[in-house]
Amino acid sequence: MAAFGKDVSSLLQTMTDQYGYDFSGYAPASLSRRIQRHMLESGVNDVQSLQQKISGDEQAFADLLRSLSVPVTEMFRDPLFFKYLRDIMIPWLATFPFVRIWHAGCATGEEAWSMAVLLDQAKLLDRCQIYATDYNEEALNIARRGIYKSSLMKVWQRNYEESDGPSVLSDYCLQRYDSLRMDRHLQKNITFANHNLVTDQSFGEMHLILCRNVLIYFSRELQDRVLTLFRDSLVPGGALCLGPRETLRFASVYDCFEPLETEWKVYRLKKDLSE
Ligand SMILES: C[S@@+](CC[C@H](N)C(=O)[O-])C[C@H]1O[C@@H](n2cnc3c(N)ncnc32)[C@H](O)[C@@H]1O
Repeated sequence: MAAFGKDVSSLLQTMTDQYGYDFSGYAPASLSRRIQRHMLESGVNDVQSLQQKISGDEQAFADLLRSLSVPVTEMFRDPLFFKYLRDIMIPWLATFPFVRIWHAGCATGEEAWSMAVLLDQAKLLDRCQIYATDYNEEALNIARRGIYKSSLMKVWQRNYEESDGPSVLSDYCLQRYDSLRMDRHLQKNITFANHNLVTDQSFGEMHLILCRNVLIYFSRELQDRVLTLFRDSLVPGGALCLGPRETLRFASVYDCFEPLETEWKVYRLKKDLSE
């Protein structure tokens, strides 16, 4: 925890000791910025006062937790990545009798719903189980409901078209006034669950793991731990997709993988780890 100032380290210690959330492995600059912004928004003058406020006040802690999570996402975010999934990964997944997919750090769920659309179009959804996890319970509740603002549809439809999606995305949503609800039949094979990548165990036997735009918030050491967790959660030959600004290059598990697609940071776990 050396890279954080004394007050921030002490705040993080309280969060770990009292609530079991360990942020000590997050990248110091961005985490400190988020703490500062939270203090500004909640009218707290200094880190010590914030520490006093959250100790013994669960709601104050929940508010801080929400400020530290960045649940920004979109349907078909990075459309060309989704085109890659559609053209290359989905036909590969179709070769398995049953498929397990993990979206780690799914935020409000759009990435998992997008995956369900792709699998449905490939008539694969019934043979797949999608696990979509995050530590942010509020974001997960939005993901579970699958209800979003209609105003988002314009961007989503553009992403969908750029990913080579057939017809229109609104075929998969029920639109009502200013909100839309994702089609319920997509949901039956998605499990949204609370899972903390820092403290919780691996999910076994995954064919595909997507953890996009999450590792950027972690220090190199924490990235390394989480990437080891992913290695241990994949079947031999399984694939890992990171975000465009993330990489396996410096991880201790680098040699366990081979790159499949360099722009979209897709890696395959070697079948024989002594290769
Ligand atoms: C920017 S969003 C990425 C959403 C989605 N993967 C995407 O690329 O569109 C980052 C998400 O990572 C989650 N996250 C951060 N640290 C986490 C942790 N330790 N365990 C689980 N989720 C975490 C945040 O709560 C947030 O919802």
